[in-house]
Amino acid sequence: MRLEKVTEKTFFPVVKMKISPEQEKFVAPNVMSLAQAWLYDDAAKPFAILDDNTVVGFMMLDWDEGERTVGIWRMMIGQAFQRKGYGRSALTEALNMIRETRKFDMVHLDYVPGNTVARDLYASLGFRENGEMEGDEMVMTLPLTDRPKVGITVADEDDMVELTELVRKEKARGTKIPSPMETREQLQEAVGKKQVRRLTLMGKTIGLALHGDILLSGEYPNVLEEAVERVKQI
Ligand SMILES: CC(C)(COP(=O)(O)OP(=O)(O)OC[C@H]1O[C@@H](n2cnc3c(N)ncnc32)[C@H](O)[C@@H]1OP(=O)(O)O)[C@@H](O)C(=O)NCCC(=O)NCCS
Repeated sequence: MRLEKVTEKTFFPVVKMKISPEQEKFVAPNVMSLAQAWLYDDAAKPFAILDDNTVVGFMMLDWDEGERTVGIWRMMIGQAFQRKGYGRSALTEALNMIRETRKFDMVHLDYVPGNTVARDLYASLGFRENGEMEGDEMVMTLPLTDRPKVGITVADEDDMVELTELVRKEKARGTKIPSPMETREQLQEAVGKKQVRRLTLMGKTIGLALHGDILLSGEYPNVLEEAVERVKQI
C-alpha cells in the first residue's frame, strides 16, 4: 500500500471510485475533492491510495505549514476494497509522512456523527474529540508534540469570528488594544487586504499581528517572546 499524489494515471480511477450508498453522507464525492484541490491548491494534497497499481482509495490532506497543522480533509476506501486494512495502513502512512517533516504540531479531522467505523479507526490511532464541531461534524485532534511552536498565517474572512472574539476578550481583561485593531470594521478591512497575521498554537488562534503591532491572548504569556520573534520574521 502506498500514497501517491493524484496524477493523470490515477485521476479516473479516483473519480470513479464508489462507496456504499449508506456511506455517501460521510464523505464528499472524489470529483468534488479534486475540484477543491484546484481551488485551494496551496493547501490541498490529494492522494490516490494504491496497492501495487490498483487504486483502492483516496485521501486529501489540508497542509498548513504556517499554522503547523495538517487536516485529514477527505478519506475513503472503495467499497470493494474495504475491511482489508487499507484504511488503517493509509492513515498510518499519512501520519508517518506528516511526522517526518517535523513541520507540524497537530493533525485534525472531522467526521459525521454516526460514522462509528471511521470514528473508531481514528480513535485507535490516537485521535480524540476536542469538544468542538465544524459545522455539523465532530472534530478530532492528534497532538504530535507536547511542545508546540507558535504558528503564523495570513488571516482570512473565515477567521474574523475568532479574531474579534479575541479582541473582545482582551478588551474585557483590560489589555490595551493597538489602534488598528480596535473596531471590527478596521479589522475586517485589514483582513480583506491580507494585512492581518493570525498567531496560532496547535491550530488555535492565540493572537494577531498587524503593521508590527501584536495582540496576544493573556492565556499564553509563556509564548509571548516566541510570538514576537515569529512576527519579526514576516
Ligand atoms: C472508514 C473507511 C475509510 C475505513 O476503511 P477500511 O479500509 O475499510 O478500514 P480497515 O480495513 O483498515 O479497518 C479499520 C477498522 O475498521 C473496522 N471496519 C471497517 N469497516 C467496517 C464495517 N463496515 N463495520 C464494522 N467495522 C468495520 C475494521 O474491522 C477495522 O477494525 P480493527 O482494526 O479494530 O480490526 C471506509 O469504511 C470508508 O471509506 N468509509 C466511507 C467513507 C468514510 O466514512 N470516510 C471517512 C470520513 S471521516
